[in-house]
Amino acid sequence: GAPVEMKIDKIEPGQLVRSEWRGSPVWVIRRTQAMIDSLPLVEDNLRDPDSEQPQQPEYAKNKHRSIDPEWFVAVGICTHLGCSPQFIQRDFGAMEGVDAGFFCPCHGSRFDIAGRVFQGVPAPTNLMIPPHYFVDDATILIG
Ligand code: FES
Repeated sequence: GAPVEMKIDKIEPGQLVRSEWRGSPVWVIRRTQAMIDSLPLVEDNLRDPDSEQPQQPEYAKNKHRSIDPEWFVAVGICTHLGCSPQFIQRDFGAMEGVDAGFFCPCHGSRFDIAGRVFQGVPAPTNLMIPPHYFVDDATILIG
């Protein structure tokens, strides 16, 4: 499939914008400082906090799983059986001090705001990160 261009200059902090790449939903989130600050809080409760899983771009193998901590780009499909996780912006309910994350309504998998899967849920791996890069400050190319 052809790469998909996304304009990001109008995205507000805390906002999720959806697109599609190769028939899959893709999310771009501009993380707030509170979201970035929550990343270390959840680490002990994650399956793969440093995101060492294979099958992802090199720049996803870190705690924020992105090129720039402010910007999170992910495939919006649960790694269990393919449902669509919901973006929760407050009262995420996983831990104190962690307001946002992703919740899959099908079988209850939870992912943090870097798409890292929590322990004790059916999803086996972190959310997929599609190949992408910043063309300029206002544009991401996915694919
Ligand atoms: Fe998401 Fe099963 S498909 S938890």
